[in-house]
Amino acid sequence: MKAYRADVLTFQGHGAGASAHLQRDGYLVVGQGPGSPHPVFLAVGAAASVQQQLSRDLKVDLASVPCEHLPGKILAPGFVDLHVHYPQVDVIGSPATGLLPWLENYTFPQEMRFADPAHCAAVADVFIQELHRHGVTTALAFATSHPTSVNALFERARAARMRLITGKCLMDQHAPDGLRDATEQSLLDSEALIQRWHGVDRLGYALTPRFVPTCSAAQLQGAGELAARYPSTWIQSHVAENRDEVAWVAQLFPKARSYLSVYEQFGLLRERAVYAHGIYLDDTDRHLLAQTQAAVAVSPTSNLFLGSGFFDHAAAERIPFHYGLASDVGGGTSFSPFQTMLADFYVGQASALTTGQRAEYAITPQHLWWRHTAGAAQALGLAGVVGNLAVGCEADFLVLNPQATPLMARRVAQAHSLDECLFALIVLGDDRLIERTVVAGDMT
Ligand code: GUN
Ligand code: ZN
Repeated sequence: MKAYRADVLTFQGHGAGASAHLQRDGYLVVGQGPGSPHPVFLAVGAAASVQQQLSRDLKVDLASVPCEHLPGKILAPGFVDLHVHYPQVDVIGSPATGLLPWLENYTFPQEMRFADPAHCAAVADVFIQELHRHGVTTALAFATSHPTSVNALFERARAARMRLITGKCLMDQHAPDGLRDATEQSLLDSEALIQRWHGVDRLGYALTPRFVPTCSAAQLQGAGELAARYPSTWIQSHVAENRDEVAWVAQLFPKARSYLSVYEQFGLLRERAVYAHGIYLDDTDRHLLAQTQAAVAVSPTSNLFLGSGFFDHAAAERIPFHYGLASDVGGGTSFSPFQTMLADFYVGQASALTTGQRAEYAITPQHLWWRHTAGAAQALGLAGVVGNLAVGCEADFLVLNPQATPLMARRVAQAHSLDECLFALIVLGDDRLIERTVVAGDMT
């Protein structure tokens, strides 16, 4: 058992009602929980309340627990990246006129390199290091269509004791040789990977149909059947990201009510299903997400970089469904959650300008941070497991140093409220703000 003493950032509530709390000079106590195989938080909060929690629940005196005192630091939940592509580390910053040429000219050629297990292992190492350097402790990640790429990432994540969900990309049409898979074999490979990895330590498997255009009806059907047969697996894909992509799906499925409804038709909308982007949705789609408990991964740096469009926050608050923030590296430009939160704020400001919805809905820093931690965890069906500093949550957390740069120190010292402080960190923060990333109770 170990205690950390510093300011402690926690979250309560959810959706538009989510709020943050900063406990000045609080405690975070980490140890082996009674019901969990992984280290968890045993007590969190002000000294008196932590003392009470420990003596009541564990018959332990706080004074007897080894304690690391970190004055001036903030203990915060590890970030959750709801959508990221590990094979696209080397695609970041490749400009294109839109999603489809970007896939064809940059992304598919890079992904072909993952037929080589040595390349997979090398990139998986870099990927996990980058996540941790930026304070991301949980990720839902695409691999490529090569099963070897999935094995490499699971092996590295397991060694890092990380909560990581990934899966073999399904793409049996409209994809080049070297990436295109064979329908039946792709489903057999997915099932074998589920059996090998799903639920091992902190790892989870995600059925991963790339997006409607690259998957035949038979492949989508097979993915839906696996999703029903293995209900605790995740599903990850893309939906309604780009106008040309939406038009292509309408050509492929002329009878479908919408792009999202194609996934519904194949049994791919359910809890633990996460669809990246969701820019071109209508209200019927939003109700469908709400009913099925499927979630959207909002990826603002990617949406801006590829010129895809603006996620409609006001509509997502009007018809609430689960959504959280994501880097979408390599369409996205950065692993940093601070960059993602800031880009999302810009999108909210820009849409307010064009739609006049400013008075109706404004994105607050507490809300942004929640969408990248506890809110993203909720979208994954992992509320109470990761994404917050709460008793029973797995012991993933960050030590933030608001004095990391002279400007940040100066600005934070003049913050008069939690909102002002969080805003300053979002605007000025980068990897230097992340002094330490602790995964499953261990420093990475
Ligand atoms: N749609 C299908 N594949 C991809 C991808 O790799 N990145 C993004 N942003 N959208 C996609
Ligand atoms: Zn993506």
